[in-house]
Amino acid sequence: MAIFLLSNWKRSILNNRKSQLWWLDSNQTKPNQTVSDKPGGIHVKRSDATLPTLDAEKRANRYSWIFAGVWTVVIAMLLYWNIQMIREHTRNLAINKARANFNKDQAFRFWASKHGGVYVPATEHTPPSPYLEHIPDRDIETPSGKQLTLMNPAYMIRQLNEDFGELFGVHGHITSLLLHRPENMPDEWERAALLQFEQGIKEISEFTTLDGQPYLRLMQPMYTSEGCLKCHSYQGYKIGDVRGGVSVSVPIQNYLNEERRQTQVNIRSFGVVWLLGLLGLYGGSRRLRASELKREKILVQTIEMIIATVEKRDPYTAGHQFKVAALVESIAHDMRLPAQQIEGLRFGATIHDIGKIFVPSLILNQTGKLTEAEFQKIKIHPKSGYDVVNKMDFPWPAAQMIYQHHERLDGSGYPCGIKGDEILLEAKILAVADVIDAMISDRPYRKGLTVEDVLQEITQGRGKLYDEVVVDAAVRLIKLGLLDRYFD
Ligand code: HEC
Repeated sequence: MAIFLLSNWKRSILNNRKSQLWWLDSNQTKPNQTVSDKPGGIHVKRSDATLPTLDAEKRANRYSWIFAGVWTVVIAMLLYWNIQMIREHTRNLAINKARANFNKDQAFRFWASKHGGVYVPATEHTPPSPYLEHIPDRDIETPSGKQLTLMNPAYMIRQLNEDFGELFGVHGHITSLLLHRPENMPDEWERAALLQFEQGIKEISEFTTLDGQPYLRLMQPMYTSEGCLKCHSYQGYKIGDVRGGVSVSVPIQNYLNEERRQTQVNIRSFGVVWLLGLLGLYGGSRRLRASELKREKILVQTIEMIIATVEKRDPYTAGHQFKVAALVESIAHDMRLPAQQIEGLRFGATIHDIGKIFVPSLILNQTGKLTEAEFQKIKIHPKSGYDVVNKMDFPWPAAQMIYQHHERLDGSGYPCGIKGDEILLEAKILAVADVIDAMISDRPYRKGLTVEDVLQEITQGRGKLYDEVVVDAAVRLIKLGLLDRYFD
């Protein structure tokens, strides 16, 4: 007596979770009990068979990891964006402060220029400017005898800066490429900026360090206007020319401190939100896992129920289905199909003849030749099976496999007579495995045929009835001894 071991099924990924998936635990069958298919001596050892795996736990875990990854990326991006905003805010604050300062000086300068300079009492602190010697009224005397001297705008602002600079905390410097007063010489950075102003650029700013302290330097050009010509026309300037520029340097240590503080607050609060999100996700994923497992359990129970139903009524068909499932799996492996597809095939094969429960036993077990009417009754089993299985939501095309497993490549099959590519690959594989097992097993009306008969049948039908690739795989496997297990 040959023992048919569905040993391949052991390869099931989740078979460590036996209690979930091994239908051996169902109370109808004791471990290692064998189910005999009626006439032929082939036994199916049920303890070696597992139900298809649905990977519910794996799937739930994968979703959780994906969510956690997306969540982390989103939070990281938001945080990055926020830090950029804070930086930009700091920069803008410093730049605005520099501009405000610049504009105020500028207004002051224009005011003084408009008056052609201003007269102030000549003192030791404010001596007559040697640079204004060419101006006829540089020094005047009031009727009461007070000595007044003319202050040019640049002189004025310079004095303002020197005397009260710490009040603004911002250093201003007026300079030019063509100097009236040599001490107003530009530094390297200012010279580069002045050259750019000549090209039409309106403002230059840079975050840098001066004497080891962080500073924002900002410089804008000064254009020659009507009022300027009184004192600067001798240098050849015309209205509209870049006369020079004023640079302001704003110390930004305070801003940087504030920036750092805000950045830290942001990192902390985003961190908290991130953690809360992960916690929520963890809770959610546990629930998802539980519901996926429940779904899987219900599905497994459904499948068990189907198998048990067939077995109760027709043990022969039940045994046939297990063997076909094993054949199908070997062929599919040989064809290098993806694991998920093989799983679906295995499952579909395990219940492929479920429709036979609607065919009267008398006809199924008939020993003589079938009448046309009886054969018609048998022919409806793919459709009946399809109708039953189609009502259930399996993750594989099981219903179609069942529907099409008697279809043939050339359209000579039943029930629909579809052809070639219209037939599902799974159904093509199932068809070949079904034929192989049917031929080699003893039937009520004949003894089992030989391996040679099988080889002849499927090679003759290759490309006509049966898919070429499937036949090639089956032939290769049979030559390697696939069917040896049927015989002692
Ligand atoms: C009352 C005469 C007077 C008027 C008006 C005047 N400046 Fe001047 N300006 C001077 C003198 C004198 C200096 C050099 C001495 C100093 O820095 O005080 C100077 C210096 C400058 C400098 C610094 C670079 C250098 O050459 O030393 C710039 C830039 C400048 N003036 C631009 C202008 C512009 C622009 C105007 C018109 C909005 C203007 N000045 C109007 C007399 C004047």
